[in-house]
Amino acid sequence: MAEQTQDVVSIEIEGKIGLVRIGNPPVNALGAAVRQGLAQALETLGRDPQVQVVALYGAGRAFSAGADIREFGKPPVDPRLPDVCDRIEACEKPVIAVVHGTTFGGGLELALAAHARIGLADARMGLPEVTLGLLPGAGGTQRLPRLIALEAAIDIISTGRQVPAEEALSLGILDRLSQAGPRQAAIEAAQAVLDGSLPTRHTGEIVVTPDPAMIAAATARLGKKRPALAAPIKAVEAISHAGRPLREGLKAERALFMELMDSPDRQGLIHSFNAERAVKRIPEAGAPPRPVASAGVIGGGAMGVGIATALLQAGIPVTLVETNVEVVDQARAKVIGNLDGAVKRGRLTAADRDWLAGTFGTTTRLEELAPVDLVIEAVFEDIAVKTGLFGQLDRICKAGAILATNTSYLDVNTIAAATARPQDVIGLHFFSPAHVMRLLEVVVADKTAPEMVATAFDLASRMKKVAVRSGVCDGFIGNRILAHYRKAADYMLLDGASFAEIDHALEEFGFAMGPFAVADLAGLDIGWATRKRKAPTRPPEERYVAIADRICEAGWFGRKSGRGYYLYDDAGTRVPNPDALAIVAAERATAGVKARAFTQEEIVARYMTAMISEATSVVEDGIALRPIDVDAVLLFGYGFPRHLGGPLNHADRIGARLLVERIEAYAREDGHYWQVPRLLRQLAENGGRFDDLNKANLDGR
Ligand code: 3HC
Repeated sequence: MAEQTQDVVSIEIEGKIGLVRIGNPPVNALGAAVRQGLAQALETLGRDPQVQVVALYGAGRAFSAGADIREFGKPPVDPRLPDVCDRIEACEKPVIAVVHGTTFGGGLELALAAHARIGLADARMGLPEVTLGLLPGAGGTQRLPRLIALEAAIDIISTGRQVPAEEALSLGILDRLSQAGPRQAAIEAAQAVLDGSLPTRHTGEIVVTPDPAMIAAATARLGKKRPALAAPIKAVEAISHAGRPLREGLKAERALFMELMDSPDRQGLIHSFNAERAVKRIPEAGAPPRPVASAGVIGGGAMGVGIATALLQAGIPVTLVETNVEVVDQARAKVIGNLDGAVKRGRLTAADRDWLAGTFGTTTRLEELAPVDLVIEAVFEDIAVKTGLFGQLDRICKAGAILATNTSYLDVNTIAAATARPQDVIGLHFFSPAHVMRLLEVVVADKTAPEMVATAFDLASRMKKVAVRSGVCDGFIGNRILAHYRKAADYMLLDGASFAEIDHALEEFGFAMGPFAVADLAGLDIGWATRKRKAPTRPPEERYVAIADRICEAGWFGRKSGRGYYLYDDAGTRVPNPDALAIVAAERATAGVKARAFTQEEIVARYMTAMISEATSVVEDGIALRPIDVDAVLLFGYGFPRHLGGPLNHADRIGARLLVERIEAYAREDGHYWQVPRLLRQLAENGGRFDDLNKANLDGR
């Protein structure tokens, strides 16, 4: 007979077994109602004389994804999660946990407090709190090191990695695996406790002595990481208390957890987590996506090869088209090489690779794309070439096929107008390497049909990519912002900061690489081509820095030609290229600039202000739906530091008023480049924040 305590937690009594079911879709997050339901269930079953053993399990696809992230930053509601865990451990009757699917954070901590743990084969366990700028705050840092080897506990807690069921069993997190479904496994395990074949114990009573040398080594290792985030280091500090009596250790863990809860890293990392999900809220979300069971990719260059690989990895058969047999063969070899790489990294089985390779075809005949559901064009960035190609596709492709262009900046409206079906044309802007980078800009042209947008988002989720909706403009969201802030770096270089100083300042700030090191990696010829394309329309009042052009004219394109701003040795270590330094000096002399010093703070302030300024204009112009969409683009496509949450999240920390003041001060040197966007001025005047616009527009426009 089932007795409802709360909608989200229900209890059921089967003979001597009290079953507790967590049912809070989609992922059984442990919000206040669940915590209250669990506490009440323990109380009811604890009192019931018939019940001799209690078994917890989860309904749906997960045991539990942990604490409810949406409650962070709000006033706490009792009972708190650590109290619920303590009540589980303190229960006089044996309590067992049966875990399946996602068992993360507080979800795993509930299970660690139980007296035995059973895992189903699909269970994935982890304490991912550090990825949100936190540490396990409901006993994880105290109970896990009591159950498993210290080294493994440090690894799991400080990386947040997921542990599959088999490994969890061998480490000692789980006591047993079960093949049954969650409820049946709970009954069977409880029965095993009753007949004495499944031993139970109180985790908190296990005595361990964490090795101080291992703790010190882990702390030092994490301190060397860049950026050296506080959460993993504090998590290891919490683990160091696991040698103390449980109550004291839990108190120390709680204090460290609360410190992190108030930290900006926590806010930024959770904003980044939310950004990945918020971008799915688009006006076209309700439109029915079209089925995509086959695809064609035109172009066998780096982009075409990456896109074909990404589609194949999502299980979509691909036909790749190139102009001649030789290039087709090269592209084929590269795609197969990418699949081999996925096998080496354990992302794909050899059998799957063989199967996928069998669904990959190449051809020199465009007509072979007649039957495919989706075509992605990744040819040379030339509007005449693209419009010609789309005219051909219009004649060849079946009705209803999605015709996508991977252009990085060309006008998708013009490309769509080359067909008689502009409603079926969309921009799918992948980032290189396309089978690795998570960002996909979905460029919606004036006549693109809503179901085409829904199809693109559906496709992105099959490819495990973060799709962000963008309007049409030169460079869309990401490259438009990049083109702007990149100039700020060039202006500082011309005015006296060295490229090594600029890179160093931004790497200290949190970027994996500074802009000049990135340019060397991407190839200096790429930016050169863009500048040449834009030269005829460049306003005469725009300040132009020709340093990169001079480096390219010398034939140095960065890493691929062995030198650019830097010289590289075989290990990839960089030292400034003396010839590039000479070019910088010569350009300063030509421009009549008297070099001045820039502090690290000033470099970061100018660079970030430029980025935020253009990001604001992109929102103001309606190119991005919300500020959080811009954050997602920079986070998932441009290496923006995750703990800062994206440029417009960072802007809220700086404050609109200070940003306006900075722009106005910089504008005294260059009033053409530094202009205050209207939206930023509005926020400054009203005391508003970008995040208010996220909240207002979360359901799309
Ligand atoms: N709290 C609240 N909502 C959550 C949540 C959580 N812990 N985890 C996921 N959700 C929400 C998502 O925001 C999303 O909502 P939406 O549909 O409104 O956008 C929905 O659940 C489904 O999530 P996903 O789209 O991410 O679905 P996936 O299947 O791709 O992934 C997941 C599921 C693996 C559970 C992933 O969401 C995830 O990693 N969640 C975070 C898990 C986590 O970090 N847990 C630790 C929390 S901190 C903690 O427990 C503190 C404790 O120590 C005190």
